[in-house]
Amino acid sequence: MRLILIGPPASGKGTQAEALKERLSIPHISTGDMLRAAVRDATPLGQEAKGYMEAGKLVPDDLVIRMTLERLQRPDARAGFLLDGFPRTRAQAEALDRALADAGLGLDAVVLVDVPDEVVLERMTGRRTDPQTGKIYHTVYNPPPPEAADRVVQRPDDNPESVRVRLDKYHQETEPVIPHYEAEGLLKRVDGRASPAEVTAAILRILGEEA
Ligand code: AP5
Repeated sequence: MRLILIGPPASGKGTQAEALKERLSIPHISTGDMLRAAVRDATPLGQEAKGYMEAGKLVPDDLVIRMTLERLQRPDARAGFLLDGFPRTRAQAEALDRALADAGLGLDAVVLVDVPDEVVLERMTGRRTDPQTGKIYHTVYNPPPPEAADRVVQRPDDNPESVRVRLDKYHQETEPVIPHYEAEGLLKRVDGRASPAEVTAAILRILGEEA
């Protein structure tokens, strides 16, 4: 299955992808995670991306498109993938369309995890990540277990200034991608305000999989 998860920052795409990847036996390809790894390893891509990410801005299309299309060439993505955080602009959506068409492939669905701005703000403020396992927690909705409580960290781009920029970028640059997939009959909307388990069940139902 070739699937895209799209939605505002902190709508729960990463949380859902973790639950769905095992269930669907496809790799979770998160451009945010790939970029954060590049920043951590101080690769040339990471050095270029760092400033944009910390400010909450989008990393330039050419860099992200190259990185993502290269990742999609790896053997584990041959039988399918779950893309999280890409495409985020019309240019990225068109580049993905071209690459898939060249390979004679198509998408199965684009799932929009929809949440209003006030929920985004609340989720970003409380988000904590375990650097050892990569697991995502929330101080209120999904607190880390005692053994991880001392090591969880807040993402540098979850500060109030970056959060506002990220929301603006979502409305300006990423929302216009939605009609692109709607026109192709691929878009499926899910209410992201429900509990994580309920959102997972709703996505599986939409995909025609048993919850
Ligand atoms: P990226 O990492 O993709 O950030 P994002 O889209 O802002 O998404 P998030 O990771 O913030 O949130 P999420 O939707 O995965 O939510 P999560 O599951 O963590 O990108 C980061 C940066 O990289 C970008 O700003 C940009 O600079 C760059 N970048 C990445 N891709 C790019 C691209 N294609 N083009 C250009 N630049 C790019 O959940 C959030 C919180 O809510 C957690 O605390 C979680 O526990 C909690 N939560 C989740 N679901 C629920 C629920 N149902 N109920 C209650 N709480 C919940």
